[in-house]
Amino acid sequence: MKQKQRTDGLAGVIAGRTAICSCGEKGMGLNYRGYSIEDLSENAEFEEVAYLLLYGELPDRAQLDAYRQHLMELRRLPELLKTVLEALPETSQAMEVLRTGCSVLGCLEPERDFTEQLHVADRLLAAFPGMLLYWYHFSRRGVRIETETDQASLGAHFLELLTGEPPQDMYRQAMNLSLILYAEHEYNASTFSARITASTLSDSYSAITSAIGTLRGPLHGGANEATLDLIRSYGDPDAAEQGVLQLLAEKQRIMGFGHRVYSVCDPRAALVKAWAKRLSSQAEDAYLFPIAERIETVMWREKELFPNLDFYSALTYHFMRIPKMMFTPLFVCSRVTGWCAHVMEQRGDNRLIRPSAEYVGPRPKPYVPIADRAAKAADPLHGENGS
Ligand code: CMC
Repeated sequence: MKQKQRTDGLAGVIAGRTAICSCGEKGMGLNYRGYSIEDLSENAEFEEVAYLLLYGELPDRAQLDAYRQHLMELRRLPELLKTVLEALPETSQAMEVLRTGCSVLGCLEPERDFTEQLHVADRLLAAFPGMLLYWYHFSRRGVRIETETDQASLGAHFLELLTGEPPQDMYRQAMNLSLILYAEHEYNASTFSARITASTLSDSYSAITSAIGTLRGPLHGGANEATLDLIRSYGDPDAAEQGVLQLLAEKQRIMGFGHRVYSVCDPRAALVKAWAKRLSSQAEDAYLFPIAERIETVMWREKELFPNLDFYSALTYHFMRIPKMMFTPLFVCSRVTGWCAHVMEQRGDNRLIRPSAEYVGPRPKPYVPIADRAAKAADPLHGENGS
């Protein structure tokens, strides 16, 4: 069953212009500044892609080395930020921690004017893994970790902060691919919210904080965490088939399937699926991979819905022993590049984003003074008996 053509939720509406990314089924495939996602994921380092998105072109070798060094030097967290992270409870959601951490960094190192926008982008890119993992280790074990490592790549740096050990090569490569795939995707909801914030001439930290809050929901970035719950809830492919059929019969949404701008496949899904399969060969719970494949088969057969990037990303991260609560934050660690590129593009040719709404409320009616209004049957704030 194909998704219907609808314009609510701004579906199909061209809401602005961009030279950063083309996606969907408009003939160019998914590309970042003209380079196809297949070429980038096959050949590039994530920092090369970050540079491409933020600085506008691919770096040469010397530029890439200098950029990586620059990002490594920006990993240290201010003491006051660490103090705030220590005050956040263990029960916080990791996305709440990043949203808060971003905002706190904006207080400590504010963007004084837009000439500092590239610095803020690089600083956030460099600091997010340390922010997340500093809070994680402190809240769980009371340990204050160093947020700097010798790892030049952001993916390996993240993994070393998580485990305290340099990651194996397969994990390093899988993280590189995943970060490239998550880096940018045109006018997705979180990027759009960043652009809306930027269009008011607000600062970069505010735009990125908006974006993190938007990404968190399960219809967007939060889907990668919900997906793992789904796959792990079944013991074998047959049980998965029965379970998914049941969920569909109950009209429930299957997380990790479908996409607003694609109708037959998400080109990123096959790229990450190959890594999920490869990693499953050395995973303790390799049985999850055939379960995921069966869910994919059932969803296509029953609904003509295909896995999106989040579906096999969840398994890839799980097979790398990354805790589920870090899946959506990893999306942040990568997508901050796309978000900041869009903030800068918006500022480069800005007009306030302020659409209009079709009014569907009551017709104009006279105001009734409070003394003349009839008493309501129930108190909406405190229930029937006001308790
Ligand atoms: N499971 C079951 N039914 C679905 C799904 C799904 N995952 N996705 C769409 N549908 C059905 C939906 O129920 C509706 O059916 P009907 O017309 O009978 O009511 C029809 O397809 C159209 O759905 P829609 O919500 O109007 O389509 P949309 O373009 O607004 O939704 C989507 C896009 C991504 C929100 C949706 O496919 C979805 O909820 N997917 C699950 C969440 C998810 O995986 N999100 C990650 C998106 S990709 C990467 C990212 O941004 O993180």
